Amino acid sequence: MKDSEFEFIRSVVYERSRINLGPDKRELVSARLGKRLRATNAPSLHAYCQLLQAPDAEEEMGNLIDAISTNHTFFFRENAHFDFLREQAVPEMAARARAEHWPKLNIWSAACSSGEEPYSIAMTLAGCAGPWPWQIEATDISHRILAKAKLGVYKEETVSRLPADVRRAHFQEGFGPQAGNHRVKAGLRDRVAFHHLNLLAGEPPFREPFQVIFCRNVMIYFDRPTQEQLVARLARRLVPGGYLFVGHSESLTHINHPLRLIRPAIYQQPLRS
Ligand SMILES: C[S@@+](CC[C@H](N)C(=O)[O-])C[C@H]1O[C@@H](n2cnc3c(N)ncnc32)[C@H](O)[C@@H]1O
Repeated sequence: MKDSEFEFIRSVVYERSRINLGPDKRELVSARLGKRLRATNAPSLHAYCQLLQAPDAEEEMGNLIDAISTNHTFFFRENAHFDFLREQAVPEMAARARAEHWPKLNIWSAACSSGEEPYSIAMTLAGCAGPWPWQIEATDISHRILAKAKLGVYKEETVSRLPADVRRAHFQEGFGPQAGNHRVKAGLRDRVAFHHLNLLAGEPPFREPFQVIFCRNVMIYFDRPTQEQLVARLARRLVPGGYLFVGHSESLTHINHPLRLIRPAIYQQPLRS
C-alpha cells in the first residue's frame, strides 16, 4: 500500500468513525481492504480509493468502517464486571428505583458488537433484578454486526465455555440445518433493543437516563480529545450514582471527566450532595 493510499484511508476512517489508525495498523488495514477490493471488484487500491470519493460512496463507506473496526468480543468478557453488576450495581439501583420514580432500570451496551456483551448483561439481570422491570439498549456503528447481534445465533465454540446451566436457561440448540448453532431464547432477546449508532455523532437519541452504561473496548481506537468528549457525553446520560464500565485497557486517568473510579475499569457518577 502506498503512503498516500494509507493516509487517505486513515483520514476517511477517522472522519467517519474517529477510529485512529496509527502506522502500526498498516498491515491490518491492508489485509482488511483486500476483502473490500474483492467485494467491489476494484482492480487496485488506487481504484478503491477513487470509488470512495464518488458521490454515491455512502454505502461503501459503511462497509469500509465495518471491515476496519474490530468486532472481537465474547460472552462475559472481563467477568469481574458482571460480578459487580450482579452483586452491587443492580441491587443498589433496584433499591433506589421506587424512591427515584424510575419506571425501569435502563442499561446501555454502547459498541455492543455481535451481541455477546448485551446478552451477557441480560443473563446477569435475569438472575438478579427480581421483579423490577429492566431493558437493555445495545448500539453499534456496524450494520453488519448488528444484524448478527439481533439474530442472536452463536456457534458451538462461542458458547462452549458458558456453564451448562446458563446454556440450558438461555439458549435453544439448533437441529437439522441449524445443528451446532445456539440461539438466545426469545424471552431474553426481547429484553435487548439493538440500534445503529455512531457514538461520535452527537447526543444519543435515548430519552430516559441509564443506571448502567457499558462502553468497553472501543475507546481504545479513539484519540484523547475524542475519548474525553465521549466520556462526557456518556456521563451526562447516567443517573447520579450510575455506573460506567470501560474496557480494562481503557483507563480514563489521562482525560478530564466527572466520574469516580471505584474498581478497575468501573466508574461512578457522583451522587447528588
Ligand atoms: C472490540 S468491539 C467491543 C465489543 C464489546 N463492547 C466488548 O467489549 O466485547 C468494538 C466495537 O465498537 C464498534 N465501534 C467502533 N467505532 C464505533 C463508533 N464510532 N460508534 C459505535 N460503535 C463503534 C465496532 O463496530 C465494534 O463492534
